Amino acid sequence: MASTIAGNWTHVATYLGYLVATVLFIVGLKLQQRVPSARRGNRLSALGMLLAVLLTVFDLGAFDPTYILAGVLLGATIGGVAAYRVQMTAMPQMVALFNGMGGGASMLVALSYFHHQVLDTGEARTVAVALGPDSAVTTMLSVLIGGVTLTGSIVAFLKLQEWIAGRPVLLPGRHALNLVLAVGALALGGLAAFGLSDPSSLATAAWVFAGIALLLGVLLVIPIGGADMPVVISLLNSYSGLAAAMTGFVLKSNLLIVVGSLVGASGIILTRIMSKAMNRSLANVLFGGFGASDATAGAGGEYRNVKSASLEEAALILEGAGSVIFVPGYGLAVAQAQHAVKELADLLARRGASVKYAIHPVAGRMPGHMNVLLAESNVPYEQLYEMDAINPEFKATDVVVVIGANDVVNPAATRDRGSPIFGMPILNVHEARSVIILKRSLGAGFSGIRNELFEYPNAVMLFADARKGLAGLAEELKQM
Ligand code: TAP
Repeated sequence: MASTIAGNWTHVATYLGYLVATVLFIVGLKLQQRVPSARRGNRLSALGMLLAVLLTVFDLGAFDPTYILAGVLLGATIGGVAAYRVQMTAMPQMVALFNGMGGGASMLVALSYFHHQVLDTGEARTVAVALGPDSAVTTMLSVLIGGVTLTGSIVAFLKLQEWIAGRPVLLPGRHALNLVLAVGALALGGLAAFGLSDPSSLATAAWVFAGIALLLGVLLVIPIGGADMPVVISLLNSYSGLAAAMTGFVLKSNLLIVVGSLVGASGIILTRIMSKAMNRSLANVLFGGFGASDATAGAGGEYRNVKSASLEEAALILEGAGSVIFVPGYGLAVAQAQHAVKELADLLARRGASVKYAIHPVAGRMPGHMNVLLAESNVPYEQLYEMDAINPEFKATDVVVVIGANDVVNPAATRDRGSPIFGMPILNVHEARSVIILKRSLGAGFSGIRNELFEYPNAVMLFADARKGLAGLAEELKQM
């Protein structure tokens, strides 16, 4: 009697613990919506994950937790070291790898469950009979989505890391091939779930099914250009969440269902935001075009009326400015110029100028790229303005300093219907009294097109590496 009551209490306590972990994930995600609370949100979510792992180990009953704890230790060490050492510019590929691991884990869990619950029993019965029809479907979906996520993410990683060519690899008849494989996978999955009962045919069907899922992941991502990878990674992130949610149904784990759904939903929302900010439809990203042509789209184009300024001349423009807006872009990240910009901004602020930073939603190569970099150099959050908030302010601004940004300030996006970026919302820096564009050359940005801003009468180019240019400007100003 006493042991039954104790058992019940343990059961209730475990479930309450899962509930607490779920709430921690949800509140953590909510806090990550805003820059000032993002770190706290991240810590809360990590705490939720720790609690979830501990509870799962505790919940295993008679099962020996040694392997799980060893796996957690190994995984946490690899993840911790990788996250600590990664360069900000290499963050997208690390996220890709982590997504892939999530998808792969879901696939392996579903396969091992299938093995254990269906094949190992040696009985001739369908998966639907052995597990119930709903678990049969979710097991197959978990293998399919997890497999696609694993290999798709590995290809995305290899492209971004430049270990394989980043350009789109367009196989002839690829759409037809993908369609055949997808339909074949669904048919085989259905057969494995509901039709086959002989254990050896079931085992063969399951392995072929998993093989097709892995192949599909490669084939779906290989035709997409390296430059479009962040959108793909966000989509794969969503897939990894879906795969986890499916595994949650298989294992009857509410926590996994909730967390997987959160990842799946937030991934798809982020994918939409990114596509919209790049003025691309998701179909256009996935089925190509842009990534295939951007490498050849007249990198830079010809410029006629470009004015270039020396460090001293640019510093003179800044010297008398009462209001300055910095616009960081990918080049700032490459040059690791976040500390240099902060130093210059502080100098200007001490001289009485109002200083702000304008953040475009797709500046850099991943969502939040600029926010994270600027946070690293302790730029106050109140100085960071999102596009919609800052755009009305450019008209009344003395000087805008564009640092290694290109597409996100190209007025062609608003005026030139023929431009590949037409329709992409931009930061209206050209409306300011003066614009200093700090980059190394007249070279193009991600989209590979010329930037008409460089020829605007109120714009001057400051040709330099972002970090050296900003440090040089600060030195000049100190002497004025
Ligand atoms: P880009 O348009 O790519 O321009 C970056 C510029 O930085 C280049 O023109 C380059 O010019 C300059 N640069 C490179 N290294 C530099 C250095 N060491 N010092 C100074 N400048 C340097 O960047 P953006 O304006 O940030 O726009 C982002 C682009 O990426 C958009 O087209 C966006 O759609 C795309 N994209 C973004 C995301 C996300 S989520 N952020 C995802 C996918 C695609 P020089 O070579 O002349 O120096």
